[in-house]
Amino acid sequence: MQIYLVGGAVRDKLLDIPVKDRDWVVVGATPREMLAQGFKQVGADFPVFLHPQSHEEYALARTERKSGQGYHGFSVYSAPDVSLEDDLRRRDLTINAMAMSEDGTLVDPFHGREDLENRQLRHVSEAFAEDPLRILRAARFAARFHHLGFRVAEDTMALMKQMAADGEVRHLVPERVWQEIQRALHEVTPVTFFDVLRECGAIQDLIPELADNDECFRNAMSALASAAGQELATECRCAALLHGLSTEQVNARTAALKAPNDCRDLSRLVVELAPLAQAPSLSAEQVLEGFNQADAWRRPGRFTLLLQTLACLPEGLDPGTHQRLRDTLEAARSVNVRSLMSQGFKGKALGEAIGLERLRVVSRYFP
Ligand code: CTP
Repeated sequence: MQIYLVGGAVRDKLLDIPVKDRDWVVVGATPREMLAQGFKQVGADFPVFLHPQSHEEYALARTERKSGQGYHGFSVYSAPDVSLEDDLRRRDLTINAMAMSEDGTLVDPFHGREDLENRQLRHVSEAFAEDPLRILRAARFAARFHHLGFRVAEDTMALMKQMAADGEVRHLVPERVWQEIQRALHEVTPVTFFDVLRECGAIQDLIPELADNDECFRNAMSALASAAGQELATECRCAALLHGLSTEQVNARTAALKAPNDCRDLSRLVVELAPLAQAPSLSAEQVLEGFNQADAWRRPGRFTLLLQTLACLPEGLDPGTHQRLRDTLEAARSVNVRSLMSQGFKGKALGEAIGLERLRVVSRYFP
């Protein structure tokens, strides 16, 4: 059997950037031979094995053919006669379809190296169209390598446009879409991910609220660029992206994408508490109401994320007010409930006394 390093590891090696995980392809072997050498089989669908020591993935060379709609609509063929080139041909982009033998020789039948040098994200073959997730992957690699000068190749963009126009994106399951979006939000230039999705038309089926309105899209990109520039958490980036939607739209979109609850909740809070960004003209009552609505008493960490996100919005929170709101919350959180209880307050009266005391503190910062 012959063993080759493949995919992202070869690409990143040639780009001279750190390799994260290494994937291997094994040619000319059977599952029985792999097990006999101590490899552990993982995954029921594909012949993929874990190395007994390194635990890296070793996959038998395989071909895939689309046999139906959706993610599971693939038939996989794996046997000792599947060549390395066959295995590379089924892959998405030429820069991801190179292999390296153990002595360091590059195997590159689809000219990935040339595309790497010319900074082109190009599909390997028409089989790209068999998996619409590849539209999102291409957009994500564009977001990862934009700063290095990479762009989606013209013919690949044309294919992606055709796939989107054919409604292929609607067949993707939300879990896979969210996984790509979540990763894209943390690439070097997440804005590029959405630019590419917009250019090819896929955004219409993914986040239609951003597709329908130029200004909403521009504001979303500006907020996202700022959140990414400050290395904010995933939920902040998601909330920055969705800040121009209504509460109902945020609920519907995050549900459709099956986004995690913390992304949904922060996105909703950013929409509802956007007025806090106009805090200089706010009354103490309004600030207190904002704290209550965000449950800042029990969720101060989330409130910090809220303020960080509001600061990313166009005409968002200015640094002075940002700090003032933080200081206000810290002071208001120190209202001593026990001492009020020891003064005899309980039940509804206690709640009112806490509220009044907090208002008194907030008024010191927002007179
Ligand atoms: N691949 C593909 N089509 C997909 C998913 C994966 O062709 N829908 C192929 C690509 O050749 C890719 C390899 O499988 O290089 C491994 O996939 P993955 O680990 O997701 O991507 P990497 O390229 O390794 O990138 P990353 O750095 O994000 O891990």
